Amino acid sequence: MIRPYQSQHLTPLLIDDPAERDKAKREADQLPSVLISSASAANTVMLGGGYFTPLSGFMDKSDAMTVSKTLHTQDGLFWPVPVLCRTETANGLEVGHSVALKDPNLPDNPVIAIIDNVRIEDLDQSEVREICGQVYRTHDPGHPGVKDFVEQGNVILSGPIRVLNFSYFETEFPDTFRTAVQIRESIRSLGWNRVIAFQTRNPMHRAHEELCRMAMNRIGADGCIIHMLLGRLKPGDIPADVRDAAIRAMVDGYFEPGKIMISGYGFDMLYAGPREAVLHAIFRQNMGATHFIVGRDHAGVGDYYGAFDAQTIFDREVPKGALDIEVFRADHTAWSSKLRKVVMMREAPNHDVSDFMLISGTKLRQMLSRGEVPPAEISRPEVAQILIDHYQNNP
Ligand code: ADX
Repeated sequence: MIRPYQSQHLTPLLIDDPAERDKAKREADQLPSVLISSASAANTVMLGGGYFTPLSGFMDKSDAMTVSKTLHTQDGLFWPVPVLCRTETANGLEVGHSVALKDPNLPDNPVIAIIDNVRIEDLDQSEVREICGQVYRTHDPGHPGVKDFVEQGNVILSGPIRVLNFSYFETEFPDTFRTAVQIRESIRSLGWNRVIAFQTRNPMHRAHEELCRMAMNRIGADGCIIHMLLGRLKPGDIPADVRDAAIRAMVDGYFEPGKIMISGYGFDMLYAGPREAVLHAIFRQNMGATHFIVGRDHAGVGDYYGAFDAQTIFDREVPKGALDIEVFRADHTAWSSKLRKVVMMREAPNHDVSDFMLISGTKLRQMLSRGEVPPAEISRPEVAQILIDHYQNNP
């Protein structure tokens, strides 16, 4: 099986033993505590589930700055985005002691993790700006990832962590939320050797469906893992439970049984385009995938990134040999009226743009909101119906 990223073993930072976990929970009740940002809680969930192997906790300021600038930690580990724990205030905390981190995403803010031997630093405005410029390639507060990054508290806490739970993900998405440890176990028990992972934050339309099918066929995959983001998104994006239902309807209706694993991970979307694509590849390697699909405008938003920047970063900025997982680079997929199937546009001979059925996300949303079923070439009817119900219930 493919090894975890830059290591022989996964390092999930959840306290594995339930008795130890209960003990740590009691210990946390006696510790000074702070409310952390949603993005920090999402980082905690990813660290807890082994997705961020080989990190042993949150990054300190020097690591955050060198990762932003050079894509390497000070120890020389290639890593594309800072993994931070951010809070508004360090009142009541003491350097070198333990601190309980409170989860902003659950009522009453239960403790999600403990940092031991904590380091406390301030991130100033110029550093926040520098990170945004490098990671998101923009300072525009209209970029949803930049907006979220700028709005988080500027005290950063670092040090080794012990994770106590997976926030709301296990209870809200019991059939879908899986850790990297669990996915590795499933791959092993299914006996899959070549495994392709598909990242998504959207319901899957025909272009996505056929992209997965083409990728599986071309690499000769034993199976495909549709691995959806379950954390926070920008306003207007489709909630995870609706996407989950739409994806399940598509897989049930149109894929050969036993070839697709549907699962999800607890992380907030960064919308960091190319940098996020590299992070995506790292955590898919950690969960045991051998291949990872990167298509058009992967993890992008608006016009901040070129349509294929998330592919070229793997050639330009990822050092040779750093990743074992292979990237499957996909061109724009769309329905060809001439060939009567979904194709990669570059591979369709004698076509001009008018030969493809292309509907923008905005137009599709407008149709669905009006209760109109989009053409079957764009969306499977079962998927369309789930989305229409969602829009009609949430005008
Ligand atoms: S993402 O933010 O998670 O990347 P989305 O769920 O829309 O957004 O896309 C999931 C994956 O499918 C990404 O790899 C993206 O590049 C790819 N993709 C989406 N639509 C197309 C398309 N029409 N052609 C090629 N790739 C696509």
